[in-house]
This record gives sequence, structure tokens and C-alpha cells, in this order.
Amino acid sequence: MCGIVGYVGEKQAAPILLEGLAKLEYRGYDSAGIAVCNNGKISMTKAKGRLAVLSEKTAGGKSVLGNVGIGHTRWATHGEPSDMNSHPHLSQSGKFAVVHNGIIENYLELRAYLEGKGFKFLSETDTEVIAHLIEYYYKGDILETIIKLIGKLKGSYALGILCDECPDSFIAVRKDSPLIVGLGEGENFIASDVPAILSRTRKVYYLNDNEIVVVKKDDVKIYDLDKEEIHKEVSEVKWDIAAAEKGGYEHFMIKEIMEQPEAVRKTVAPRIQNGRVVFEELSLSEEYIKNINKIYVVACGSAYHVGVVGKYIFEKLTRIPVEVAIASEFRYCQPILDDKTLVIVISQSGETADTIAAMREVQKQGVKALAIVNVVGSSIAREADEVIYTWAGPEIAVATTKAYSTQLNIMCLAAMYFADILGRISEDEYKSMLEGLLALPEKIEKILENKDKIQHCASLYYNSKSVFFIGRSLDYAVALEGSLKLKEISYIHSEAYAAGELKHGTIALIEPGTLVVALCTVEELFEKMLSNIKEVKARGAVVLAIAIEGHTEIEKEADHVIYIPKNDKNILPSELVVPLQMFSYYVSSLKGLDIDKPRNLAKSVTVE
Ligand code: AGP
Repeated sequence: MCGIVGYVGEKQAAPILLEGLAKLEYRGYDSAGIAVCNNGKISMTKAKGRLAVLSEKTAGGKSVLGNVGIGHTRWATHGEPSDMNSHPHLSQSGKFAVVHNGIIENYLELRAYLEGKGFKFLSETDTEVIAHLIEYYYKGDILETIIKLIGKLKGSYALGILCDECPDSFIAVRKDSPLIVGLGEGENFIASDVPAILSRTRKVYYLNDNEIVVVKKDDVKIYDLDKEEIHKEVSEVKWDIAAAEKGGYEHFMIKEIMEQPEAVRKTVAPRIQNGRVVFEELSLSEEYIKNINKIYVVACGSAYHVGVVGKYIFEKLTRIPVEVAIASEFRYCQPILDDKTLVIVISQSGETADTIAAMREVQKQGVKALAIVNVVGSSIAREADEVIYTWAGPEIAVATTKAYSTQLNIMCLAAMYFADILGRISEDEYKSMLEGLLALPEKIEKILENKDKIQHCASLYYNSKSVFFIGRSLDYAVALEGSLKLKEISYIHSEAYAAGELKHGTIALIEPGTLVVALCTVEELFEKMLSNIKEVKARGAVVLAIAIEGHTEIEKEADHVIYIPKNDKNILPSELVVPLQMFSYYVSSLKGLDIDKPRNLAKSVTVE
């Protein structure tokens, strides 16, 4: 939920720390701070508000001398956004500075213990406990101290730690929160995520839980909790720098919407070889797949919505019962699992706390977890039994778009792959879906070309107070995502509703002028959707319909119609979501809101 960086090298640290934090603001941005060690003295500057406030306070970092430092951009969990609650936090004597991403669950108990030892706390945060606890344990060996610290902490953390007795290095350690080490020439880094260091190096170590790293400008050593040195393979980051920047678009979100054809192509194409779906990364045996008698799909937010679409497709093709669960509910509902249950977890960031916890729950019971993840080296990616990566590239906007789309593609490919092994999909159906997936990029491109029409619709309705997204079957599943997109970036209340269910109460909310977005792409239910449109129109609603090209009869009923190209019925959700993403983007843009960083949200929800 927060972003941390660290630098040690020949150059002045502060400007480099600020540069890295700027690339991590999507992880949280209600306050920021840096701490630098110079001639054995730690100086710290921090401020509530966006990074720009801190940058102004430090003249872009130029006023802070020293070549080793740590930085932090925060999304508040314990203690409201304020100067004092922002990171870094200093230990009592100022000997240590700490930045932290995660949550210390036993911080109150530790705080009481330390207060009993005479420590004075200045903030309401859990992180300050870490700073004082390090000082309390420190007897001269920083590695020993960190090992002792880890033994006392419960919860999740990625830590960057400065010590004024180690003026040429900093220490870092992680558990349950992401952290990478960047390896430069005469300089080294830590960061919560790749974009922070990409302009400086492509060589990284992905740290695992409880690995402690001592970082110097020309030396990086990683230790386990027994102080044994660990030797890691250097990974090469393949992302190009542009991919992690806005690339000329006004917002990351519109860039990522426009990138969907490419993201879909990169995700799908490598998995179709000689007319068959292949998953080289999967080691599930055919026997195992034939034995599956239940699938759970577990995720949060938009990833959960992918699961709702995936349920329809998986059940239709494989005839295996699929249950979709919200991760924060699933982990506390004693799910019925056995060795014939497969749990699919879906996560763009691979760091969503509830999804990680749900996955660990099932693994404790010996159940396989297959992860669909976008971030390489993320916690879920490394801990799942099986991982299928979406190759959407970095998704920076808080509101997901291309990751959602590519997750949908993987669900379709996986359903085909399983159904083929089970002998439950006809060659015609298989071929139709394969062709539909391969044709998807240019069909999405065609929808993107229709942006003026979508923007025009947004201009008519961006002042709406409440919007309903209605649909049936797969259209209803996608309506969930359309509604969330509108809510999270335009702050307009919205609801997705099964169109056939509307008349059982909720239609009471429809009044003259209410906008209803009617999704009408499920051909066998098209006539029923026309009736639902008539129902809401009779109550004064204004209807924006989305239909397949050629179904012009809908123009008699709806006020506006956006058409999408025809495709295989199981592939259509990947097209249908695009005008909904664009509609929400243009509504939010017309409202002048902070589209990439909506209020109250963060890109990766790494706390419960
Ligand atoms: C989607 O636009 C939201 N940002 C949010 O619902 C997100 O999908 C959810 O937090 C899950 O994140 P994950 O995919 O990284 O696990």
C-alpha cells in the first residue's frame, strides 16, 4: 500500500530518492519523506500531501546532502495522513531511520513494552515501533539486531533502515510486502516496484520473505535468519522505460485502455501454438485436471469480477462447478475444500493482502492454488503452486483496465485448455473461441476508434447522481466491472443489476432522467433485454445500450447505442468492457478528477 526506495552510491541520494518515489506514487500518496545519512548523521525531511510538497521542501532534494538514503510515499493505515505520521520514522536517539510498507499487527503490545522502557512515541503509526525496537536491541551488530527485530514483529513489512554507524550502507528486509534490489554501476537501490529504478538499472534481485539485504554502493549481500549468505540469480527487467511512463497520454488510465489490443495480443498469442491452447508454465497433470470436481475463483475488486465472468465460461465448457468468492469473505467462511478442489486466485498486483491470505489458507489444507497475476516476482506469483502471468505490462492507474482484460483472456484460454483435456468441448466451439481470441486485438482497436461517440455520451451524463448497469448472463458479469469503473474514478454512485431482477424491487429507484446502461450482447437474451429497456424507459430512464453490430432494432428502444464487433460469445466480454472503461474515463475527465489516483484508493491493497 506504500512505496519505499533506497539509494547508495557516488551521487547525492535525495534527488534520486525523490525520482524513485515519483514512480511509486500510485502505491499511495497521502504523504512522503526521505532520510539521508551524511558523515555519520541522519537527516530526515517528510511532509503530508503529494510528493511535490516534499520536493518543494527539499529543493528537489538538492538541499539534503549525503549519498545513502531511504524514502517513502504513504497510503495511511495506522494514523491519519500528517507530517508526524509520515515516514521515515526515527528511533529515540535519531540513530536509526525506518521506512515501512505493510502493517505490524502486534504494534500496540510492542509500543506498550517500549514505553515501559522509557521510549517516547511521537506518531500514531505502527512503523515508529520498529524504529525504537531496533534501537532497543542494537548492541553494535546491525544484522543481529534486524534478526532479533524480525522475531518480534507480527504482520507484513518491507523495511528500509538507515543506521548512523553504517554511513556507507542501508539494510532492507521483507515479509509479505514486495521489495526488489536494483543493481547499478557503483550504486545500488531498493524499491517496492520496478518503475522506481527502471531509469537507473534493469538488473534486480526479487527478495523473498525473511531475506535481509545489506546494500553498499559496490556490494550487495543477502542473508537468511541464520546469518547465512544467500546467493541469488540476477533477474533482468524486460519492461521498457516508456511502458512505465505515460507515453504521451494525459493519464495512465487512458494509456492502459489504449494498450489493451497489445496487452491481449502479448497474453494470448504465445499460448496458441499450431491451433491449440498451450500453457507451458503449467505443471498440472491431465490426471489431476480430470480429477477436479470443484473450482473456486478467489479475488478482490475487478479481479473478482473476472472470476464472475470466468464462472459462466468455465462451467459452460468444462461442466466443473465453479464458485466465485470475494477473498476477504472466503478466508473466514470455512470453505469446503479437498484434494479435488482447485483454487484459482486472480490478482493484478500479486500483493493484495486478502487474496494472499486466502491463498495461504487453502494451501495449508493441501489444496492447489493456481494464480493469474500481472506482476512478475510478486508475493502471490512466488507462493502459488501454479502461476499464469498476464503480460499486460505495468499497470499504473489505480483503476485496472488492461489487467482485467488480459485476466479474462487467461480465464477463456484456461477453460478451453481444461475442457479440451476433459473432452468436453467440440472442435467447432474450440475453433470459434480460438479465432475469437486471435481476432480480439483488432476488434478492440475498432471499439477504441469509436471514442468520439463514447466521449459524447459521457458529456451528456457526467453530472448523473446515480447510474445503473444492467445485463443478463455474461453481460451482467461485465456490468459489475462497468459499475465499479464508474464509481472508483468518477465518484458517481452506480449499481450493476441483473436485468431480470430489476423488477423485484430496485426498479423503484428508477426515476425520470436516471441513466441506465443496458448491456445487450448475449444474443439469445437480446429480446429480453429489449423488454427490460422498455421497463425502465416507462419509468423515465435514459438508456445507453451496448449491442453487437447489426442489431439496429435496439435503436427503437434505447436513447443511445454503442456497437461492438461480433465475436464468439465467450470472447465478447473482453470487447464489451472496453466502452464501459472509456465511458467512465471520459466522465471522470469531464469532472476534472484525478483519474489515475482516485481519492481513498491505492493501486495495491496490501493491508486487510
Ligand atoms: C480495480 O479497478 C480496483 N483498483 C480494485 O478493485 C482492484 O481490482 C482490487 O483491489 C484487486 O487488486 P489486485 O488485482 O491487484 O489483487
